[in-house]
Amino acid sequence: MADNTVERIQALKKEKNAVILVHNYQRGEVQDIGDFVGDSLELSQKAVAVDAEVIVFCGVHFMAETASILNPQKTILLPDAASGCPMADMINSEQLRKKKQELPGYTVVTYVNSTAAVKAESDYCCTSANGVKVVNAVKNDKILFVPDQYLGDYIMKKTGKKMELWPGYCPTHANIKAEDIKQKRMEHPKAKVVVHPECTPEVIKLADEALSTSGIIRYAARPDVQELIVGTEVEILHRLKKENPGKQFYPASLKAVCPNMKRITLEKVLQSLEMMMPVVRVPEEIRIRAKAAVDRMLEIV
Ligand code: 13P
Ligand code: SF4
Repeated sequence: MADNTVERIQALKKEKNAVILVHNYQRGEVQDIGDFVGDSLELSQKAVAVDAEVIVFCGVHFMAETASILNPQKTILLPDAASGCPMADMINSEQLRKKKQELPGYTVVTYVNSTAAVKAESDYCCTSANGVKVVNAVKNDKILFVPDQYLGDYIMKKTGKKMELWPGYCPTHANIKAEDIKQKRMEHPKAKVVVHPECTPEVIKLADEALSTSGIIRYAARPDVQELIVGTEVEILHRLKKENPGKQFYPASLKAVCPNMKRITLEKVLQSLEMMMPVVRVPEEIRIRAKAAVDRMLEIV
C-alpha cells in the first residue's frame, strides 16, 4: 500500500463530494477512515441523512443496495462488487413468491440481509436492531420471516408470536458454538457475554444479551461492564477496544470471520473513488416495491 493512500482517499472524497459509510465488521483500517461506522439500521438511516452525491459503502452488497433503494439520486459505490452475503443468497424472489402462494394471508417480514428483489416481495423489512419492534407492530398473527431462521427464532421468543421461518442462516455466526461460550466463561468468570441474534439458539441461551452490532457497542460502554465476551464477527473488537480503553474484550470464537466483509481494503476504497465504480443501482421497478418494505420499517423505528 502506498503510504499516502489515506490522504488520497480524503482528497478524492472532497473532490467528488463523497462520504464513506462503514459497517462494524469492516477491517480496522477501513473503519478508521469512515465518516460514520455503524450497524445495518444506522447505516441505512445515515445514507438518507447525508448530504453527499456519492456514498462509498464499505459493507456487503445488500447494504449498498439498501442505500440505493433509499437514495436513487446518489451514486452508491461498493469498493468490491463481489462482497456478498451468503445468508442473503439463501432465498431468491422466485422462492419467496412460491412460499407466499403456499401461505396465503401471511405477512412477510424480511431481514435486511436479503437482496432487493426479495425485499420487493416483502411487506416489512427489519434489522437485528429493530426486528422485535417490527414484528410486534405487525397486526397479522400469520407471519413468514425470511431468511434468517435464528434471528426469526430469537424474535419469536421475544415477542411470543409464532412465525414461519425460512431455513437460512449466517455461516459466520454458525461458527460460534455453545462450547466456545462455556469455555470463555470458564476462562473469564467475571466477564459478561453478548452475542449477535444471528447466533444459534443454543449460543443465545448462554449469553447475557443478544444485540445488534451497535447494541453491542452501547452495551460495552456501560460503566458496569469491564470485561466482555463477544459473540459476533471478530472485527467488531477493533471499535470496542478503540472506544473503551482499559476494558477487556474477548472474541467468543476466532472462527467468526466474515470473508465478504474482509474483501474491502483501503486500496479498493481508493480505486473505487478514482474510477467511480463499482456502482450499485437497484432497477427502478424493484426499487419502488423494495422501498415500500424498507419505509414501513423506518416508520416503526
Ligand atoms: P447488524 O445490523 O447488527 O450490524 O448486523 C449485520 C450483519 O450482517 C450481521 O451479520
Ligand atoms: Fe452475511 Fe453473516 Fe457476513 Fe453478516 S456476517 S454479512 S450475515 S455472512
